Formats: sequence, C-alpha cells, structure tokens
Amino acid sequence: MNTRIEITTPDDWHLHLRDGDRMQAVVQHSARQFGRAIIMPNLTRPVTNTAMAMAYRDRILEALPPGNTFQPLMTLYLTDTTSPADIDEAAAEEHVVACKLYPAGATTHSDAGVTDLRNIYPALQRMAETELPLLVHGEVTDPRIDVFDRESVFIDRVLIPLREQLPELRFVFEHITSSEAVHFVNDQEQNVAATITPQHLLLTRNDLLASGLRPHHYCVPILKSINDKKLLVEAATSGDARYFLGTDSAPHARHEKESACGCAGIYSAHAALELYCEIFDAVGAMDKFESFAAFNGADFYGLPRNSGTITLEKSSWTVPDEYDFAGERLVPLRAGTELAWRLSDD
Ligand code: NCD
Ligand code: ZN
Ligand code: ZN
Repeated sequence: MNTRIEITTPDDWHLHLRDGDRMQAVVQHSARQFGRAIIMPNLTRPVTNTAMAMAYRDRILEALPPGNTFQPLMTLYLTDTTSPADIDEAAAEEHVVACKLYPAGATTHSDAGVTDLRNIYPALQRMAETELPLLVHGEVTDPRIDVFDRESVFIDRVLIPLREQLPELRFVFEHITSSEAVHFVNDQEQNVAATITPQHLLLTRNDLLASGLRPHHYCVPILKSINDKKLLVEAATSGDARYFLGTDSAPHARHEKESACGCAGIYSAHAALELYCEIFDAVGAMDKFESFAAFNGADFYGLPRNSGTITLEKSSWTVPDEYDFAGERLVPLRAGTELAWRLSDD
C-alpha cells in the first residue's frame, strides 16, 4: 500500500481567487499546492478585456509569498458584446489562456454573462481560429428547468449544437457533475475536455440536504446523485486524458453562506490535493493521480508540464474549523475533520 507519493507539480485548472484583501487571504493555499492555476474572471466587476486581466494578474503576483513561483493563467469573461477584436487581443497575450462563458444568471457574479450564444458567435469563431479555448459553465438558466437537470439540458440545448456548428472550437466543460456530462465528454473524439471538483467526487446531494441543510456543501452546479458521483469518480480516476483537476475553490464569507439566501461556492484550496488523493486512494487508482493532477490539463492547454515535484504522505491532520478571510470567516470543505493525506512541506 502506498503511504507516500511523489508526483510532478500539479496545476488547478479552475480557481476563484477573488480580489483585494480576500485574495490576499486565500492565494497562499493555492500557491503552496499548485504550480499554476486558471484564474476565473467573475470578480464583482468582471474581467472582460485583456488590460483588466493583466492588471488582475499583477495584483495576484504581488499577493504571493516571497519566492513563490505560482503562475496565474488569466481568462476573459465573455459578455454579449465581446468582439473578435477582443479575442485577437487576448490571443496575442501569452498570459491570457482562455475565455469563460457564464450563461447570464447561472452562478456567482454572472449577471453580465452571455444571454444568448448567438450574440457571441463571431467571437467564438475567432477563438476557434486563434485556438483560444472556451471554458464553459454548463447550465441553462431557464426557470422551468429543474435545478438538478440544468447541466444535462445545457448539453442538449447548447453543447451538442455548438459541437456541430464549430467543431474546431476547443472547450473545457467546467466542473461537471452528472452522468450525462461524463457520457457527453466520452463521446467527443477531440477538442473537448472537462474539469472535476473534489466536492463532486466526494459528496452527493444527500450531504447537502439529507441530514439538515448544509450551506457549506452548496455550490453550482448543485451536488447530484450517488450514481452521478460514481460515474464522475470513474472518469476522474480512469487515466483518460480528457479529464483533469479543477477545484472550483470558491470562497465566500461564513455569513454569506449561512444565510436565508446563501451564496453558491465551496472552499477547497486549503486541502485540494489531499482531498483528491483520498478519492484516488479509495478506488485503488493512485497510479492515475499524476495524469489527472499534473499532465492532462497542461497537455490540453498546450502548455509544458511542470518540472518540479510535490510529495503527499499518508499522515492524518485536522482541517481548521475556519480560516481568516480579510476580517471575515471562511469555512473550508471538511472543516474540523481529519484528512488521511498531507502535502509534505519538503
Ligand atoms: C463559483 C463562485 O462562487 O464564484 N461558485 C460555485 O458555486 N461554483 C462560481 C462558479 O464556478 O460557477
Ligand atoms: Zn461555474
Ligand atoms: Zn467556478
């Protein structure tokens, strides 16, 4: 049995760092675990152009602990008015690596998102031409659709037509949660990949709803069934190059989650690798962990794999009940519980 594993330094292909003092409070957790991360652009004022992305990148670099070499990979937030010229500018900047589609109203800070994919068709076409990947929050916002079906309906209404219209557009189906999403990704021979979060591999809607309402298990897309989780675990631990690590670590202050109308988002950056490691260990797939965490994402984005290594060891520790969040409190995933794996400091 493995009690220690050394792998190539991994990357987080879906991360929310927020901004200002809140970013300063959380960035060290990701910077300690990962070589690089794709930084989501859904700030209070969304990151909609290359100049904003580069200014945000500078703020992240300034917030890093001295000597840390963590690299933020920037993304643009697509709106109804994003133009092919905006895409050209992004494609010419090496630090901007993708554009993010938030269907308007689907999630945190998505009000400025895209109301109809037809509005950004010229921009998507230019992304395909310049090989800039599209990152997709894949849920419909139609209020007639049950919240548990929003991802599967999005596949039928948006992704399947998009594959037909623009087969050369490379895209990442972000934070997939359902068996339908796994089937969809498995059916695509090229240009499509998916990220999977720790919470969707560890938890189901029972953990959200069945023994009291657990606001710290609330994220979007919402946790799904036991069978969905089984398929996600199979996909993540299969070694299939289309699946890679993306925590979707999304910090919100304690009072914003423990509320009559709580925010969506789970904080996992404090123990991201340990949480994923637990999943791979549980199904006897530690030999597939490195490709999921360190190879598949870099290969999809056409970036070099990291050159360093990290070590995880089987040595238990207790997650704090909360972290400081710029004077507010931040409740992490697995708060107050014991984790079996630990990221070694040496
Ligand atoms: C994310 C956030 O809080 O920014 N929340 C979430 O529940 N996943 C947004 C997102 O990734 O959709
Ligand atoms: Zn999302
Ligand atoms: Zn996210």
